[in-house]
Order: sequence, then C-alpha cells, then structure tokens
Amino acid sequence: MCKIIINGGRRLDGSTAVQGAKNSVLPILAATVLADGECTVMGCPNLSDVNAAIEILEYLGCKVWREGSTVTVNPQAVSCADIPDSLMRKMRSSVTFLGAVTARCKRAKISSPGGCELGPRPIDLHIKALRELNISVTEHGGYTETFAENMRGADIHLDFPSVGATENAMLAAVTAKGTTTINNAAKEPEICDLEDFLKKMGAKISGAGTGVIKIEGTPKLHGAEHRVIPDRIAASTYLCAAAMAGGTLELTDVLPRHLNAVTAVLKDTGAEIRTKKNSMVLKASGRVRSIDTLRTMPYPGFPTDAQAPMTALLSVANGTSVIIENIFENRYKHCAQLCKMGADIKVNGRIAVICGVRELTGSTVCAQELRGGAALCIAGAAARGVTEISGVNYIERGYEDIVKDFSRLGVEIKKQIS
Ligand code: EPZ
Repeated sequence: MCKIIINGGRRLDGSTAVQGAKNSVLPILAATVLADGECTVMGCPNLSDVNAAIEILEYLGCKVWREGSTVTVNPQAVSCADIPDSLMRKMRSSVTFLGAVTARCKRAKISSPGGCELGPRPIDLHIKALRELNISVTEHGGYTETFAENMRGADIHLDFPSVGATENAMLAAVTAKGTTTINNAAKEPEICDLEDFLKKMGAKISGAGTGVIKIEGTPKLHGAEHRVIPDRIAASTYLCAAAMAGGTLELTDVLPRHLNAVTAVLKDTGAEIRTKKNSMVLKASGRVRSIDTLRTMPYPGFPTDAQAPMTALLSVANGTSVIIENIFENRYKHCAQLCKMGADIKVNGRIAVICGVRELTGSTVCAQELRGGAALCIAGAAARGVTEISGVNYIERGYEDIVKDFSRLGVEIKKQIS
C-alpha cells in the first residue's frame, strides 16, 4: 500500500505541461476496434485506466504496443466479443466498448462497468440509445448482451446529455446502415475529440459540440493517427492548487478555451489568469474570495470533475460558498476528509456549504475517488504541517504523476510505499 506525504505551506511556482485527456483517450481506444487497419493514438497519459483499456483491447484480440505516450493498436485479429467482469470492473469507460464491439462483432457481452463510486452510475441511457439503433439489448444476471444483425440508423434522443451514452451511440452508429442523429448529445471537448478521430478513420460524422450529432453510416473504417487533446480537468486541478497554495503557475500544452468555466470561477476567487493559444498563467491572489453559489453542469457549464479541487480552494476563502452538485448524487466524499484538516464544510445531499477558514492543518486523510483524492493533494500542499494521503490508487487513475509535478512546482511531496 502506498501513501502520498506532503509537508505543506509552500508556494507553487513554475511551469508544467498538461497530460493528454484521460476521458478522450478511453473512448478513442475503444473506437480503434472499428478500424480495419492500424491506429496510432498519441498523447496517451500513463494511467491505470488507460492500461485497463489496453488490457481489454488485447483480450478482444487486438495487438497493442506502447512507446512512451504513443499507443498503437492493430485490431485486425479481433475475435472475441465478451469482456470479462475482471476487466470491466476496472473503470467506468469500459462501457464504451459495448457500442464499439457490437458494431464490429454484431454482438457483445459485458458486465457492469466499474469506475469511481459517485452514486448509482446506471447505463440505461446507453441501452436506450443502442435499442433505437435496432440493436437487441438484454440484461440478465449482471450482464448486458447485445445482438445487432440488423442495426440501422435512427433518430436518437438522449434524456440527459450523458457523455458515455453519447460516445456509445457514436461508436455504434458510425458503421450502421443509414442516417443517425443524436439529439441532446453531450457537448464535452472529449466528444469533439472522438468525432475528430472517427472522421480520420473515414466516418461521416459531424456536429459534435453542438448537442446534435449527425452520422451517415459507413460500412468500413480504416486505421488513423491522432493526438488527443490536453486534459482540461488535470489543468483545472493544478490551477486550483496554485490558487490555494499561492504562487505563479504556468501551464503549457493546454487548450484554455476548454476550461473557460473553471477559469471564470478562479477569477471570481481573486486569481489573475492570462491565457495564450496553448498556455495559461495563474497568479494567486492574497486571500481567496468566496463564491456565492457554484453549480456543476454539463459542458460548457462548470465541470463536475473540477468540483472537488474547487471545494478544496474555497475551504480557505474569506467567506461562505455554496456548491450544488447537479451531475452525480454522491460526489462529496472529500469534504469529510477536508474537515479533518480543519475545513468547515456541511454537506446535505447535492449541496455543500463551505465556510472558509484561514488555513488548513495537515492530517491523515484517505482518497475515496479520483478527483476527491486530487483535492486532498491540493489541500495538503496548502496546509500547514504534514498531510498523509492513502487511497493513492484512485489518484493514479487520472493523474499521470501528481507527485512529480507538484514536486517540480516547489511542493515538499513524496510517495511512500508502506
Ligand atoms: C464521464 O462519465 C466522465 N468519465 C466522468 O469523469 C465525468 O464526471 C462525467 O462524464 C460527466 O462529465 C469518462 O469520460 C471516462 P455521464 P460518464 O454519463 O460518461 C447519469 C473523472 O473523474 N447517467 O455524463 O459516466 C449518471 O449517473 C470521471 O474523470 C444515467 O442516469 O458520465 C450521472 O449522474 C468521473 N444513465 C450523469 O448521468 C446513464 O445511462 C452523468 O453521467 C448514464 C448516465
């Protein structure tokens, strides 16, 4: 078991490059199953979730090799359509293999996907979308099975702009006969990145980012090369860390427009932010200002994945802030841990009331999901004294090397294997 140990209270100063987007890489790796030739995906961060996706590809029969941040997939020998529970449970994004494998093999069988415990994470919207494409979907004994002998294009309406359901519908529809429209589609940048990759594979698809995605089914897709977009949530995390610990942070290899909603809130808290095309600089203000009410929303609203890092920052604001978590039912596990460090946060359902305190104090805390774990790293960097964080495996699902990055920015931090 390992822990992250931080001796906090030092500023964050310096420059760091932002990793490739986890939530882009995962559906794009699933999409490689649809190609009849080799796919090369560049900018893949070294994360346990990416390794889990590679394991699934290899289980399906793909040849996969990795050189640094480049992953190459040869899907020509795909021979299996059943993904075992041991692989499905490793991450949420395994569910996007359902659409891709169904389109490739005309059937698929998966168990319930894994992923961070953020409340119930049903896949009813995924299933409804696949059924609208005339795919037969049955659920029994914890498994979901599809048969797609006569898949055909359809007019799909998502009740909620689910990221995963949008991705599954895209992956299933790109080779389905006829025209598909996905209405109320998620607009996240990762959806646009998936569309860009599918277009490079020869898919006839457009509209990602607008809420209405149009697809003309193409029977065969070929291999392609693609570099994934930078990770807007990792970028948001590091900006919150600099705003909380103090200092001046430059982020390179970032697309500032992808985190406009986060930048706007950081400016409201008093941080100074300057942006260029592929970089941004945050200069921390003296005392963090509180925010009246912050609501998490589907893109382009404030991202739920940045809620925990922002909660850490607001815990030392000079006033009371209210956060309303509209996306997940149970995404405040980090609050009790922050309170162990001296924060004053009261949670009631989807609402967190954060009464800012002057500073946090190091303590022994436990990460219980990915972004909450990142929030504890941010809090530990800013707190007075030593913070010990367990549950590091959660953090490593989404951050390539937060210890190395924070250390290079001046934080006294180390990973201890106990
Ligand atoms: C993706 O999860 C991301 N994960 C999440 O990031 C992110 O928080 C989420 O989108 C929202 O932006 C990946 O891309 C791998 P949803 P996903 O389907 O697709 C409900 C991180 O930290 N819902 O948009 O699972 C669901 O329960 C992770 O990187 C249904 O009810 O999110 C949730 O309340 C965490 N039925 C809401 O919709 C469904 O069929 C949003 O879910 C599907 C979803």
